[in-house]
Amino acid sequence: MHQTPDELFPLSNRYDRTWVDANSLGENTLHFAESLVEALPLKRGMRVLDLACGHAISSIFLAREFGVTVWAVDRAVDPTENFRRVKEMDCEDKVFPLRADARSLPFPHDYFDAVVVLDAFVYFGTDERFLPIFARHVKPGGHIGIVDACFSREIETADALPEHLRDAWYQGWSCVHTAEWWRRHWEKSGMLRNVRSERLPHSDFLKSDFIRRFQDDPDEKDVIAMMQAEGGSLVGSFRMVGERTDYRVQLEDDGTAREY
Ligand SMILES: C[S@@+](CC[C@H](N)C(=O)[O-])C[C@H]1O[C@@H](n2cnc3c(N)ncnc32)[C@H](O)[C@@H]1O
Repeated sequence: MHQTPDELFPLSNRYDRTWVDANSLGENTLHFAESLVEALPLKRGMRVLDLACGHAISSIFLAREFGVTVWAVDRAVDPTENFRRVKEMDCEDKVFPLRADARSLPFPHDYFDAVVVLDAFVYFGTDERFLPIFARHVKPGGHIGIVDACFSREIETADALPEHLRDAWYQGWSCVHTAEWWRRHWEKSGMLRNVRSERLPHSDFLKSDFIRRFQDDPDEKDVIAMMQAEGGSLVGSFRMVGERTDYRVQLEDDGTAREY
């Protein structure tokens, strides 16, 4: 049975669409957040990190809809601007904006009940040394969840793609993988268990929505070409959620200042 967008996204579609579109830095970030929370257990009062939060509207959404306290962290977005949005939505006691890099987070270990990363994990998460350092900020038993772009099969080199897509591949798509690749990538670290990784049930709807919004935007030409490749079957969105184990690794780069 065909579902309307309001039926697919009953929580996020209550938010003003102009505000959501203006403040989503990739695809519709509230749709991504709502899709993730179907698989990520959130309870009132939890401490949540929204990493690479962009304009922090997903942080606002999670705080308002689920009663969690959110640290809205991004490397490039001005936290003062995010604080303005947070205040406008009456969330200043629940959402704390901060500028920080995912690779050197200023938080204690075992601090967060959950971390969400929407449309951003591919920027830093393919590095096999990243997860062991980053996951230490999550309590054992807590969860990390991401939503991002995925391929339906592994692309080993640009030559595996038609010529008109090769430049896009070199410009950023080479870090995109299948949902299964990501599951193995997380599980082998020992830091996460019960990893569930799957294409979003509403992936095709989200893709059509993005194409509709950006079809006349020259900056999104390559993204749209990728999304339309192979009759639309090559690219989609996936969600992945894993539970933090209590495994600890000793790495040189443990986030503390050292002298050599
Ligand atoms: C496509 S945007 C998505 C933003 C937001 N989650 C959304 O869905 O609108 C990617 C974000 O990742 C952030 N980012 C990239 N690398 C980062 C890093 N190393 N540490 C923190 N943030 C990073 C960028 O500044 C940008 O805001």
